Amino acid sequence: MATATGLLAAIADVGVDRVRGGYSRHGFDRDELALREWFVGEATARGLDVEVDRNGNIWAWWGRPGPDAVVTGSHLDSVPGGGAFDGPLGVVAALAAVDGLRARGFVPARPLAVVVFAEEEGGRFGVPCLGSRLLAGTIDPDAARRLRDRDGTTVADAARAAGLDPDRMGRDDEALGRIGQFVELHVEQGRGLVDLGRAVGVASTILAHGRWRFRFTGEGNHAGATPITDRHDPMLPASRLVLAARSAASALPGARATVGRLVPVPGGTNVIASTVDVWLDARAADDGTTRAVVADITAAAREAAAAEGCQVEVTEESYGDTVFFDPVLRDELAGLLGGAPALPSGAGHDAGILAARVPTAMLFVRNPTGISHAPAEHAEPADCEAGVDALVAVLAHLAGD
Ligand code: GLV
Ligand code: MN
Ligand code: MN
Ligand code: MN
Repeated sequence: MATATGLLAAIADVGVDRVRGGYSRHGFDRDELALREWFVGEATARGLDVEVDRNGNIWAWWGRPGPDAVVTGSHLDSVPGGGAFDGPLGVVAALAAVDGLRARGFVPARPLAVVVFAEEEGGRFGVPCLGSRLLAGTIDPDAARRLRDRDGTTVADAARAAGLDPDRMGRDDEALGRIGQFVELHVEQGRGLVDLGRAVGVASTILAHGRWRFRFTGEGNHAGATPITDRHDPMLPASRLVLAARSAASALPGARATVGRLVPVPGGTNVIASTVDVWLDARAADDGTTRAVVADITAAAREAAAAEGCQVEVTEESYGDTVFFDPVLRDELAGLLGGAPALPSGAGHDAGILAARVPTAMLFVRNPTGISHAPAEHAEPADCEAGVDALVAVLAHLAGD
């Protein structure tokens, strides 16, 4: 019988990022494909029937596929330089839970499936939860197919190379219609459980959140030969945006705004950039506050661009309103787990996308560092196993007689 920690150890060498530290595993890249293949092997070894849907999400079935299935799982991709747990913990916990159920002699009365969603972080193509959004029909498939990675490869090309037919990508009512309930187990991405002294919790909400790309266009020129007064340097409004993100979010309770990626073109030390792309991640408890933060930042960016004689173009790359997880399912699972605490999530999840379509819940496992999307993300082996035990109890309860 496998443990979650043992399964994580089996994939510890895949996608190690020797430059940034941590892991860089992105949708349909070599490492993520290796992890998908590994998952298929593990699922098959457990006698589960594996199928890949038209959006590249992998389903491993115990029993006949749906309807009214109990589905659990998460994702195997990471952010650039991410931790070992965000995503993979939910997948390995699901496999270990299947072992745990089998060891108990459990026979599901409803179909059960383990799912691996494609490109959850948006680390390659920019839009988070791409596989679940396509499945649920909350992204236009044409727009999704055209998304490009940093090398210019489109989603359509990457999907084709992974053996999918990109023309078939999009809302999949058949796959969706098979899900009765979805439960995603995930490492906690803050200190909620540490502060409460609990190993496992359930999710209450997900912040409203989105991504915006600002393209500042100025005039590329020589760093030495161009007098300061003659410059149209897009790095100036870009820098102003970074500062505005902090001040706008500080002014609104609970709001968060982050610039984690900024790309000057051409990117030479002795070159005034011609364009700078800045990606803004903004989040808050509700839609109104999130939109207000972005509006403040956008106004500051426009003003700074005009002052420098630059243009700015703003693109909303993805957005999702606040998610409220099914309160009945949440309370039922919290009760089953001995009064597990309910915690809000500052991070987005495939479960947040599915919650709009099917009764959905999340289980969180304590993260002693409280850090996530960085190599310091952690979960102790005993807490991972507590998560597996919780998932076993939840699946037995939902899929049992
Ligand atoms: C996903 O982890 C996100 O919230 O960015
Ligand atoms: Mn993440
Ligand atoms: Mn995740
Ligand atoms: Mn020169």
